[in-house]
Amino acid sequence: MKSTMAVNQPGAQKVNDWTDILGDFKGVESDLIPILLRVQEGLGYISEEAVRCISLFLKLSENQIYGVASFYPKFRFSEPGAQKIKVCMGTACHVKGGHFLSDAVAWELGISIGQASADKRFDFQRATCLGCCTLAPVVQIDDRIHARVLVTQIKEILKKRE
Ligand code: FES
Repeated sequence: MKSTMAVNQPGAQKVNDWTDILGDFKGVESDLIPILLRVQEGLGYISEEAVRCISLFLKLSENQIYGVASFYPKFRFSEPGAQKIKVCMGTACHVKGGHFLSDAVAWELGISIGQASADKRFDFQRATCLGCCTLAPVVQIDDRIHARVLVTQIKEILKKRE
């Protein structure tokens, strides 16, 4: 089983082919979660190709694999965008209008939480607390924290990141 997959995650583990991942496992059912974690770490998501290869390797149906993987929020099934936007929805940020910021990001990018923009530049996530509650409401884009963000600033913040 040899298949090349491109890795576009900045800082992601380089995966050249499926033997890089599957070669470390015995091919038993209990390998499923560890394999999914390795794929998620390497690709940034669980691709259809990954599910097909895992299915052959573990002799499980693709439906069984999706069934297990979809139970855990850590696994995603679409390619992530390059820049990670996290709108904090923790208590302090929520009280100060974090949900309005979330709506503004969704509106500007035309996507929902958990999705990547069509051009794959942005990946939109929700955070429960980014650890800087005194700066609420907070939006994080990659490693940069934007503090006390107003809804009217979202468009400009995103434009600067294009
Ligand atoms: S609640 Fe948003 S940073 Fe803590």
